[in-house]
Amino acid sequence: MDQKFVIGNWKMNTIAAEARLLSQAIADGMGIEDSVTVVVCPPFPYLSLVGEILKGHRVALGAQNLYPEKKGPFTGEVSPTMLLDLGCQYVILGHSDRRHKLGESDTFINQKVRVALAAGLNAILCVGETLEQRKADQTKKVLDQQLFQGLDGLSPATLTHLSIAYEPVWAIGSSGHHATPQQAQEAHAVIRHRFGQMFGERSAQTLVIHYGGSVNPENADAFLRRPGVDGILIGGDSLNAEQFLAIVKAGIAQAQSLVEAA
Ligand code: 13P
Repeated sequence: MDQKFVIGNWKMNTIAAEARLLSQAIADGMGIEDSVTVVVCPPFPYLSLVGEILKGHRVALGAQNLYPEKKGPFTGEVSPTMLLDLGCQYVILGHSDRRHKLGESDTFINQKVRVALAAGLNAILCVGETLEQRKADQTKKVLDQQLFQGLDGLSPATLTHLSIAYEPVWAIGSSGHHATPQQAQEAHAVIRHRFGQMFGERSAQTLVIHYGGSVNPENADAFLRRPGVDGILIGGDSLNAEQFLAIVKAGIAQAQSLVEAA
């Protein structure tokens, strides 16, 4: 996989003025490189605003969630149809914030993944273990279950629009813990292996797997150069255009070195 991905998850941050400034700075800082797919995922209320600013720039728009129905009596929810209407190409699903703070189950996340893919969105399914699970040596078991249930019943024809983000819960944000590139590589291998069992070796080889958890301009390169780490999903540092663009730059450098090595 020569292509690298850099995805910013703004989570529940920014107000309109900040979203405008941040997306403008990212858009302005983007070069013409196409070896890195860059995606920003602002909060729902600013998708339209950010989408307008990104028009004509090489930055795709993504959402942080959706509800798995086209429309109807689901007060407060947002449908895939609405996301497409706003110009979204990507959607993050099953983020650990939603699993652990809002109680989303693998079954519910599975419905979202299916509906997102059927609608033509690129779904980014987040998986990852908690610190307790890692300490209890359950990482593989947790990843297996999140994949097995989260990807249940997917049509093989839609798999090219699916990517997985490995985000160890304990390494996210200001938890004080950092996963090493080696730990990321090992978990990605587990994910790819499981995916291969479910959908075949060829699908596993082309599966895009991102790493997320305290990635910054200093460590991005170390993650991106690991075999099997195809992209980076950034929280905190995606709220600072300079930092975010520095990680994009690391992605471009890695993608170029892969092309040269091929
Ligand atoms: P941080 O980069 O702030 O650790 O967040 C990672 C994340 O959760 C991205 O979805």
